[in-house]
Amino acid sequence: MNVTKSFIFSAALLASSALAGLPALAQGAQRVDVLHWWTSGGEAAALNVLKQNLNGEGVAWQDVPVAGGGGEQAMTVLRARVTSGNPPTASQMLGFDIQDWAEQGVLADLNAIATKENWDKNIPAALQQFSKYKGTWVAAPVNLHSTNWIWMNKKVFDDLGLKPPQNWDEFIGALDKVKASGKTALAHGGQPWQDATIFDSVVIATGGPEFYKKALIDLDPKALGSDTMKKVFERMTQLRKYVDNNFSGRDWNLASAMVIRGDAAVQIMGDWAKGEFVNAGKKPGTDFLCTRFPGTQGVVTFNTDQFAMFKVGADRQAAQQKMATAIEDPGFQSSFNVVKGSAPARTDVSDAAFDDCGKKAIADVKEAVAKETLLGSLAHGHAARAAVKNAMYDVITGVFNGDYSPDQGVKELVTAVAGAKQ
Ligand code: BGC
Repeated sequence: MNVTKSFIFSAALLASSALAGLPALAQGAQRVDVLHWWTSGGEAAALNVLKQNLNGEGVAWQDVPVAGGGGEQAMTVLRARVTSGNPPTASQMLGFDIQDWAEQGVLADLNAIATKENWDKNIPAALQQFSKYKGTWVAAPVNLHSTNWIWMNKKVFDDLGLKPPQNWDEFIGALDKVKASGKTALAHGGQPWQDATIFDSVVIATGGPEFYKKALIDLDPKALGSDTMKKVFERMTQLRKYVDNNFSGRDWNLASAMVIRGDAAVQIMGDWAKGEFVNAGKKPGTDFLCTRFPGTQGVVTFNTDQFAMFKVGADRQAAQQKMATAIEDPGFQSSFNVVKGSAPARTDVSDAAFDDCGKKAIADVKEAVAKETLLGSLAHGHAARAAVKNAMYDVITGVFNGDYSPDQGVKELVTAVAGAKQ
């Protein structure tokens, strides 16, 4: 071998060995880049189940986390990416946002996989209405969360001789007792989406499911401007008395941590809060208690996290499809949701691996489906489109912070929704 030949040979060898050492991406191996807002401890632990699952299938995971509960910031980043022609393979997405993106024509068609894997049969209609656009599957639902829960520190409750409250008066009685003991009664983070998460529950507890539907889903001005809504706002104002002085702007998981530590007694939050308790090594029935927000048993205000799949180049489609398949695998639906705190998105998943709160979540969803009281959460984008939701957020937060009296709040709500609906 002359010098030139040997140089070429070793350069080639070097190139191929360098390639072998490169991460899978450079070799054209499969990869998904995924935008999401699962950045708390419990959320990250759940997401890991999906990452590992896909890694096992030979799919590398490129993480695009955007912190901020409820996903508002994530949606801003997503808009920037899609607008600049750089959509992720998939993005976590809630309710009506999926429909909005589908309308833009940027989401992929998952019908072939959905048909092969029988998604139509095993995913409840309430979820499908968001996952499908004009008959085409565009998103893979991961879970079924719900917002009408309260999470309690068991020791704080036991020490004060309290039981999980089952109606409004018992709830207020319990909060009063905790407050009198010197502890924070209600762990809360003053962010619009968290205020709205409380609002979901108070609307059900005060007006019942029919009223919730009329006001927050049908956006009926009469219901929005009613005395019942005024009472909802009065109750929101009442709850405000039980939060600590530093509640403003606090992240939801830090509020969960207050209950986990026993510095506070109760958090009103969706069942992703359970993910935080479990991630901290706490057990339901031993360290913490869960119950439906007092007065809302039989109703479930749900939000389902879905991975909306974007139209991507042919080189990225195989990985995208593997991701969709992995998400709808019944085994994954169990192992993921056990960690996340949610019920599975599929109805054919056993509850055997779930703890008592998880079993209750699954049973409650069944009950709500039968009673037709499985209602989309306003706070989490499953009752109304983003423009209306955001307009309501402003008013709810205004009332919670005392900027509007309940009376003014009701008037503002009617005006805000009418403006945003156009
Ligand atoms: C999502 C949950 C998430 C929570 C807090 C909700 O909108 O559905 O999955 O854990 O926000 O970030």
